Amino acid sequence: MTRKFRVFATCDIGQDALDLLRQRGYEVEVYPKPEAPPKQLILDKVRSGIDGLITTLRDPIDAEIFEAGKGTLKVVAQDAVGFDNINRADANRYKIPFTHTADVLTEATAEFAFFIMGAVARRMWASERLVREHEWGYWHPYLPFLGDEITGKTIAIIGTGRIGLAMIKKCTGFDMNILCYDPAYQNNDYVSAIQKVMDVRHANGVQQERTWIRYVEFEHALGEADFVSVHVPLIREGESQTPTYHLFNERTFRLMKPTAYLVNTSRGPVVDEIALVKAVREHWIAGAALDVFEKEPLPATSPLLDTDIADRVRLFSHFASAGRITRLSTDPNKGMAGRCVQGLIDVLEGNYGGDPSKMPYVVNKEAFR
Ligand code: GLV
Repeated sequence: MTRKFRVFATCDIGQDALDLLRQRGYEVEVYPKPEAPPKQLILDKVRSGIDGLITTLRDPIDAEIFEAGKGTLKVVAQDAVGFDNINRADANRYKIPFTHTADVLTEATAEFAFFIMGAVARRMWASERLVREHEWGYWHPYLPFLGDEITGKTIAIIGTGRIGLAMIKKCTGFDMNILCYDPAYQNNDYVSAIQKVMDVRHANGVQQERTWIRYVEFEHALGEADFVSVHVPLIREGESQTPTYHLFNERTFRLMKPTAYLVNTSRGPVVDEIALVKAVREHWIAGAALDVFEKEPLPATSPLLDTDIADRVRLFSHFASAGRITRLSTDPNKGMAGRCVQGLIDVLEGNYGGDPSKMPYVVNKEAFR
């Protein structure tokens, strides 16, 4: 029988996963609204002595929260892979482990990135709009517009962590050439394996052209690619040697081809949106597909919503991991909800000998070594 732990969840991460905690005797309170709770409410809950806090990417978790939980709060379990909302240095100072849900959303996010790339390049929204608005007047070889194919083109993958690598795998199936860039780490084994797959496909007549994959410098990737897909974490100035805040800005958009498209499923602030709107409006680039924004939800006043660029800009609601199994499965190897509660259980119930540095879903292992 486990001790009765008290947990507050800032969001309903899925009934089945929460029930899993309740079945173990946990007392679980869930913020009932779909919007993020006010920070003051999180502070009050933490101050009331909860053992575990379940968070999402909308909740700012910083020194104030950790101070409120001093001596009582044992774990923060984030229902997301990204954790730029959690101040890692503060968590380490207070020696509070926090967990995330890497791996289980990798394929869902990469396939979504691929699909929105297709949506913008093949003008799927514009085509559907014609039909819905009764403006589809004829079949014609090129009127009223054409899109750009993806098959056989060159893509730049910016960030070759888990999701970037999964995107590479999907692009390989579409006979794409692949330029890789990562500011922090290079997975040369994976790149060699993909080149072998490409060679086998070519040698056996599965694809006509021989395609290639290689690591290059950032500027080189931007200058050669027909598509640029962003898969880096958000790292602000001063947080590391390789910040990614506004990695895409006026200077870097000018390096891209006027026929190239940007795809962003990582974090909004990696892209300077004012610069992006200018780049699309002035045809420095062909278009963009975005699932993430500098401010979410996207404000009604955002210039990204301007109707004169609507045909070339696809906008989505931070939806890339929003597949049923990916979001809700209680299996920690399949679902974010399952992995989130397992991370919480590992810490509270002292799995892995009670050593957070050995727990697979703990992010800030360095604080416990
Ligand atoms: C989604 O953006 C996540 O980080 O899980």
